[in-house]
Amino acid sequence: MAQAANINGNAYTIVDHTFDVVIVGAGGAGLRATVGCSQAGLRTACITKVFPTRSHTVAAQGGISASLGNMGPDDWRWHMYDTVKGSDWLGDQDAIEYLCRNAPAAVYELEHWGVPFSRTDEGKIYQRPFGGMTTNYGKGTAQRTCAAADRTGHAILHTLYGQAVRNQTNFFIEYFALDLMMNDEGRCIGVVALNQSTGEIHRFRAHMTILATGGYGRAYFSATSAHTCTGDGNAMVLRAGLPLQDMEFVQFHPTGIYGAGCLITEGARGEGGYLTNSEGERFMERYAPSAKDLASRDVVSRAMTMEIRAGRGVGKNKDHIYLHLDHLDPKILHERLPGISESAKIFAGVDVTKEPIPVLPTVHYNMGGIPTNYHGEVLTLKNGNPDTVVPGLMALGEAACVSVHGANRLGSNSLIDLVVFGRAAGLRCAEILTPNEKHSDLPKDADALALSRLDRFRYANGSTPTAELRLEMQKTMQNNCAVFRTGEVLEEGKQLIHKVWNGASDIKVTDRSLIWNTDLIETLEFDNLIGQAVVTMESAANRPESRGAHAREDFPDRNDKDWMKHTLSWLDDTSHKVTIDYRPVHTYTMSNEIQYIEPKARVY
Ligand code: FUM
Repeated sequence: MAQAANINGNAYTIVDHTFDVVIVGAGGAGLRATVGCSQAGLRTACITKVFPTRSHTVAAQGGISASLGNMGPDDWRWHMYDTVKGSDWLGDQDAIEYLCRNAPAAVYELEHWGVPFSRTDEGKIYQRPFGGMTTNYGKGTAQRTCAAADRTGHAILHTLYGQAVRNQTNFFIEYFALDLMMNDEGRCIGVVALNQSTGEIHRFRAHMTILATGGYGRAYFSATSAHTCTGDGNAMVLRAGLPLQDMEFVQFHPTGIYGAGCLITEGARGEGGYLTNSEGERFMERYAPSAKDLASRDVVSRAMTMEIRAGRGVGKNKDHIYLHLDHLDPKILHERLPGISESAKIFAGVDVTKEPIPVLPTVHYNMGGIPTNYHGEVLTLKNGNPDTVVPGLMALGEAACVSVHGANRLGSNSLIDLVVFGRAAGLRCAEILTPNEKHSDLPKDADALALSRLDRFRYANGSTPTAELRLEMQKTMQNNCAVFRTGEVLEEGKQLIHKVWNGASDIKVTDRSLIWNTDLIETLEFDNLIGQAVVTMESAANRPESRGAHAREDFPDRNDKDWMKHTLSWLDDTSHKVTIDYRPVHTYTMSNEIQYIEPKARVY
């Protein structure tokens, strides 16, 4: 039913919907939860700002981790050990146990649903080595990453979309989610979205709202993330007065194509590729004598940066590194790495069978996000209480911080995170919700936050174009919150990023239409990004130690005594104040099948 609402004197056409579950985002996590909720008989809607199969999961290349043991012995406990070590002991070990233990079943489920995995000669799912993945608690190299050539995310996303359609999910495609609807008791009762093709405002009532909106890579200048990766769900959570967790931990993937930022999968090194500096040296042998080019991403990205700083970068400006695949059998490249062979040709003009690919560490993944338990339920963390959840709200995938990745995610652990926790969320919804349960009346001002914000930007009549502020934000994050950090650089970063944030009061939006208005949508996305950029910078400045992806040159060591704890950050949109607090890392496992893995030096 459509009705007119008047906010600040501006008319909007409102359309109301009621569902049991509303999922925002149609990437791997959103679709897996969608399938689970639909299968449980819950009336399920999935809202997405892009067509589902264009969600960023489509760009995942190298694979999905699970200890299937198809290429040699493997065990979920070894996978857990590697993930804890990869996280630099910031991951919660109960959640990591849940992830690794449930990973094989989640992959077989995908296989049965139709994911066209590459095969071994015996017809089993093909698995390749990835960084930091070992056998026997660090002794050997594991082949644990299940691959569909180098288009694994594409294969998974298309399969999950097919399953969602098969299970009668209601899709709302090219709807841009604006804000959560919260009631006075702190319960999430749904979400407000803009239908980009009609300009109507849709209020989605739900007993459970699930945010699966991905990361915020586009806060940075150079990222492997799609331009749509603006962390919209994270920003909605901040505006709802809830905290984000561990935002200072931003992963740089070692091999983004120099200049273009597109991903060259770690699977390239898994298949035998290696990095060299201007002297032709395979320098990773010095930094990680055992794992070499397959050390974890933070280690490889730092090593590459150090080589460039030492004047051993390649190219005219000595500002990047070479990735060699030219020694590999062209048949292997064709069979297992066809996608990146094509990307290297298009974006670097390189024939991978003959020349090395110019690469540079590039922003790739956000370990931080919305704090949740392993069911996907969002934690309020009020007064540090780890057990209180925000009723009616879940978060999944890169938007969430469960936390299984801690301070550094291992490659191929993100696709498995999407499906294991997407499945867990579906199971939890089936357990705690009753299909078709009646909704209470919608509070009068439920959409006020969403509509007043929409109004603010739609009628913004300052003098600074959004693109100018966005570029300033991206450059500040790239310069002041990158692979290496110091207190001084971060303090300067704080000043600069607050300046950009303050500059938003002078923003100019040229078009007031609600239909296909890219200027307005990009402004709303910028507003989402800038809040996350601010808490990222402040969280980084506040952590005087080095752990995983957070490498402080002024505090080069990990400090478990004082800093083995999660950062929580709140943002006040009105006063522009950030509040930071901490909560302990879970130092326990879920079952007695594995003991807590004690912290130790992290060498590869
Ligand atoms: O390198 C890659 O294929 C990326 C995988 C991941 O981030 O998990």
